[in-house]
Amino acid sequence: MISKVRGTQDFLDLTLKNFVLQKAKQILSCYNFTQIETPILEPTNLFVHSLGEQTDVVSKEMYIFDSDKKESICLRPEATASTVRAYIENQVIEKPWKVFSFGPMFRKERPQKGRWRQFDQLNIEVIDSDSLFQDAHFIKMIDVFICQSLKIENYVLKLNFLGCLDDRKKHKIALNSFLEDIKNNICATCLQRKETNILRIFDCKNENCKKLYKDAPKLTDYLCKQCDDQWKELQETLSVLSVSFVHTPELVRGLDYYNKTVFEFSSPELGAQDAFCGGGRYSLGKELGGKSDIPSIGSAIGFGRLLILVANNLNKLSIPQQPALHVIIPISKKQADLALIISDELQSNNLCNDVLLDFSSMKSLMRKANKMGAKYVLIIGDDEQKNGTVSIKNMQTSEVGSVKQSYLIDYLRK
Ligand code: HAM
Repeated sequence: MISKVRGTQDFLDLTLKNFVLQKAKQILSCYNFTQIETPILEPTNLFVHSLGEQTDVVSKEMYIFDSDKKESICLRPEATASTVRAYIENQVIEKPWKVFSFGPMFRKERPQKGRWRQFDQLNIEVIDSDSLFQDAHFIKMIDVFICQSLKIENYVLKLNFLGCLDDRKKHKIALNSFLEDIKNNICATCLQRKETNILRIFDCKNENCKKLYKDAPKLTDYLCKQCDDQWKELQETLSVLSVSFVHTPELVRGLDYYNKTVFEFSSPELGAQDAFCGGGRYSLGKELGGKSDIPSIGSAIGFGRLLILVANNLNKLSIPQQPALHVIIPISKKQADLALIISDELQSNNLCNDVLLDFSSMKSLMRKANKMGAKYVLIIGDDEQKNGTVSIKNMQTSEVGSVKQSYLIDYLRK
């Protein structure tokens, strides 16, 4: 047997996934977002230049290939860089550009509960808007989706503010001197990150490092006047919008492109991989060949993790029932054509149906129809074919009867 690739999944029932996606599309369209699609294959440099070379994703998790022209391409690990690329490349003039996309992302991480190598993200971006009120509005929208549309209650919104480049420079000096004092107790990766990309120490998964960094200098203590005002305003606006959040100083997000607002929605129901949505404000453009940086805000929902939460809360949701299914059984090959014609007619009248073309014993065919959840079974043998009728069995009441083929649609609609 050839098995699926490690860290990938087969979805054999898409009912819940489609339901949640439908809910998301509803709310996003209400907030004036448009759906877009970008390629799964992208130039590797797109992510190297935007996420940062020192990030976990770029340094060790990308699936990279060499294409014909020796240009390095990869399976996209996320969709933000692609969205900004598409904005620049297609010379979009809409401002802000409010878009979302849904699809698979690829990261060569160690698979575990809630962590896959291929996983779906619902990615939402507001490109080209520098108002911090946009951030509050955006976070509120995600919050509404989680608690009102999906009725999820057991979650936390973690919020932090990374300030501007100058703030991070000041913070970096303080962080460096803090790390100097504890450098003998931190892991080798953190020691290296201290020299190359110091903020990434907060992405460390080592429990000992994480504990030590609880006392690290907080970025929000190093904000300039403008950033500090914005940070306060953001918190106030979120409070006005009744969005509860927890200021989490060690939340720096694992990608280099963020500045100012960063946030993550997490739930204790998910175990170690508890973040099911992450995002923030960023400024990309020059790195991707654009004329200037474009201030934007966005986030991605990890759909696999979100579905785990939705599945835990199913009793609070009313998922639309599948329409009734009717099963048509031609008794022999002689009735096959008629069965197929009847099937087409039912279908064109929006009556879902399936035809059993096994021509095996009636007992096993009825058992199969029952297993398929048939509401009515329509049996066509020699007599029915001759008389222009079908024998019909109501599988809920076990009632049997005969119906004229010309009256069948009206009968099933009742
Ligand atoms: P991220 O935090 O890397 O951000 O991913 C967002 C979400 O995707 C995570 O919170 C998690 O739910 C899900 N996720 C990430 N990796 C995996 C995995 N290996 N298996 C399952 N789920 C996973 C981004 O990707 C940014 N592009 C978000 C963003 C959009 N920021 C601004 N705009």
